Amino acid sequence: MKGSNKVADVIDGKRVAAEIRQEVKQEVEDLRANGVTPGLAVVLVGDNPASAVYVRMKAKACEEAGIYSRVIRLPVETGQGELEAVVDELNADGAIHGMLVQLPLPPQIEERSITWRIDPAKDVDGFHPMNVGRMMIGDPLAFRPATPAGVIELLMRSGYDPSGKRVTIVGRSNIVGKPLSVLLSQKMKGGNATVTLAHSRTPDLPAVLREGDILVAAIGVPEFVKAGAVKPGAVVIDVGVNRVDDPGTEKGYRLVGDVAYEEVSQVASAITPVPGGVGPLTIAMLLKNCIVATRGIAGIA
Ligand SMILES: NC(=O)c1ccc[n+]([C@@H]2O[C@H](COP(=O)([O-])OP(=O)(O)OC[C@H]3O[C@@H](n4cnc5c(N)ncnc54)[C@H](OP(=O)(O)O)[C@@H]3O)[C@@H](O)[C@H]2O)c1
Repeated sequence: MKGSNKVADVIDGKRVAAEIRQEVKQEVEDLRANGVTPGLAVVLVGDNPASAVYVRMKAKACEEAGIYSRVIRLPVETGQGELEAVVDELNADGAIHGMLVQLPLPPQIEERSITWRIDPAKDVDGFHPMNVGRMMIGDPLAFRPATPAGVIELLMRSGYDPSGKRVTIVGRSNIVGKPLSVLLSQKMKGGNATVTLAHSRTPDLPAVLREGDILVAAIGVPEFVKAGAVKPGAVVIDVGVNRVDDPGTEKGYRLVGDVAYEEVSQVASAITPVPGGVGPLTIAMLLKNCIVATRGIAGIA
């Protein structure tokens, strides 16, 4: 735990992600030795700049790990039927073991029916209701959504096992806060925490968050969590990635998290930076899910 005038330790997401990616690479080699090359397809509809960056990063990470990757870029005006046809083709494609449709989708596309259409065996995002259900009941072979799974790996591999700890999470989205609350509550390795899931209707939010030995912020509001909402000595995980204008930088913006990093560092015992904290884990866990999918489809334990 933290002394009175010590600044928090920085939890290094890049290091942990590199470790996982190395393990994935090894697994890919094993699968290839068994005659199977894992394949991941990523579908991007439109030209949202942030989505385009994420898709490029995913494809590059696949290549580095020896995973075959295919990026399918569709115009922004793509219709529901056209996108469904692409999903159907990928469902039937033997070279593809995992696939995802990058979110958000343009308004003419109904996101939910696309999510439901992806073959659950290839659903490496873990968003299909079948996989959400399997995760909920603690099926160890279920796909775990990449960002919450990444938060747990980051904690475990940095020496902060959540077992027996009070964890406060702010943000209850279906892709981060809610599944993270489930995973941390499970009776399994990386779980066994006592979890509070807070949101925009939580009264006296700072007092609730201050109960956490581990605090996770996933709301999408720049530097929202201040030092007063953090228990002294807590471990703080910042999932937020927010662009804020900064004319002093080349791009005209910089990335900040949902946590006021400087002041919270004075109170917490450990904290994730943004960038370089949770973000790299999301891609590493996607690759892991691709291995799970390949093993499942190829029948290789
Ligand atoms: N590092 C990564 O790889 C990664 C991956 C995914 C997301 N992210 C980032 O994580 C952040 C959250 O993403 P998301 O997709 O989970 O967001 P989201 O779907 O917009 O959900 C935001 C959640 O935060 C809650 N919230 C918003 N403002 C609040 C406030 N002032 N006080 C209390 N709760 C508040 C909302 O509460 P209500 O439900 O009550 O409205 C909602 O549950 C974003 O910055 C996003 O970019 C990062």
